Amino acid sequence: MIPEPLLAQEHELARWRRDVPALALRVHDHPLTYLDNAATTLKPQAVIDAVTQVALAQAGNVHRGVHALAEAATEAFDAVRPQVARFLGASADEVIFTSGATASINLVAHSLGRQVVGPGDAIVVTELEHHANLVPWQLLCAERGAELRVVAILEDGRISLEDLARKLDRRVKLVALCHLSNVLGTVAPVAEIAAMAHAVGALVLVDGAQAVAHLAPAELAVSRLGCDFYVFSAHKVFGPTGTGVLWGRRELLAQMPPWQTGGEMIASVDYQRAQFRPPPERFEAGTPNISGVIGLGAALHYLTNLPAHRAAHEAALHRALCAAVAGAPGVTILGRPQAAVVSFVVARAHPHDVATLLDQRGVAVRAGHHCAQPLHGRLGVSASCRASLAYYNSLEDVRALAAALSAVREVFP
Ligand SMILES: Cc1ncc(COP(=O)(O)O)c(C=O)c1O
Repeated sequence: MIPEPLLAQEHELARWRRDVPALALRVHDHPLTYLDNAATTLKPQAVIDAVTQVALAQAGNVHRGVHALAEAATEAFDAVRPQVARFLGASADEVIFTSGATASINLVAHSLGRQVVGPGDAIVVTELEHHANLVPWQLLCAERGAELRVVAILEDGRISLEDLARKLDRRVKLVALCHLSNVLGTVAPVAEIAAMAHAVGALVLVDGAQAVAHLAPAELAVSRLGCDFYVFSAHKVFGPTGTGVLWGRRELLAQMPPWQTGGEMIASVDYQRAQFRPPPERFEAGTPNISGVIGLGAALHYLTNLPAHRAAHEAALHRALCAAVAGAPGVTILGRPQAAVVSFVVARAHPHDVATLLDQRGVAVRAGHHCAQPLHGRLGVSASCRASLAYYNSLEDVRALAAALSAVREVFP
């Protein structure tokens, strides 16, 4: 394995890694090799500190108290909305906080979906989708008497634009697709797909759960992507669990009814009826995940202040990772990964056994169907192992995985 010139300098990477305390852990008497970033990312100390600070000096509730702790919480919380907007190249009033990418997609399905999808209409997804971007659309279609159309992928894992063109017509109300596949690591040509969808009058929702930690800022700018909705989870971009974002185009959000109702989202209410606040508050019923949102702010601050070449470092590492996995004995890679992720199967070994053996050597990967069961069926396997990167991974991590895979081969010759 030849070190790539694009990899970060050793001292710089060491600094990035020191900032993430969990990377110093030892697992089964081995240094932790964390290659499960697609499941969840590890947290920089700055995020841990921000969350701790909420429990101490910002411990009040938001948007309701006039005392010092409530005001401190409100100020820190409110600062994150414009920050997320900058991250996506959008406006703050288009950013809705949710409990995660899954909740964001369900919000669109329940609110906009019930409004615009009727009998005989269609929703388009792709074969790549995570259950979070599939099941809400299945239920909506069943409820509304609509059809769910599934766009095929090519052998290398990219979305077939020919098949998409075949599946698009005036009956399609929404196209929902992932920006970066959590299994195959393929990056969707979102702008091209959005233009095709808009040409038949369909809206476009992009599941950015896997993309946000890996793609460059310009690749995440919603205006360049041309989509109508973009969703992601904080925990996959170095923030806390239980927090997510729905970005939606202002004019669409303005017309959408609330999904969940309760405190905070109403303008006025009497015993019989309620008036709702404009977006984003209309879609944020109840006390939000205050520490989650503030932690997300700390994560985005940390990430966006890393040098731009962290993306080149990760891309070079991804090439090295794919080469190492491809070269491991008995291993077959699924598709042709473009970024962050590589999923693979080992001949004659169940993925759970492989992952357990890797764990014995301190190497954390995911095993199973990665919440993409239909995609695994389409690929002719029931499960796979997945190694996934973050900017803080090193060539040493790749070597540790390669060595551990060789050891797996000794158990399953
Ligand atoms: C592509 C993709 N979409 C959606 C999700 C759902 O994210 P969450 O469970 O944080 O809501 C995931 C999580 O693995 C994912 O990988």
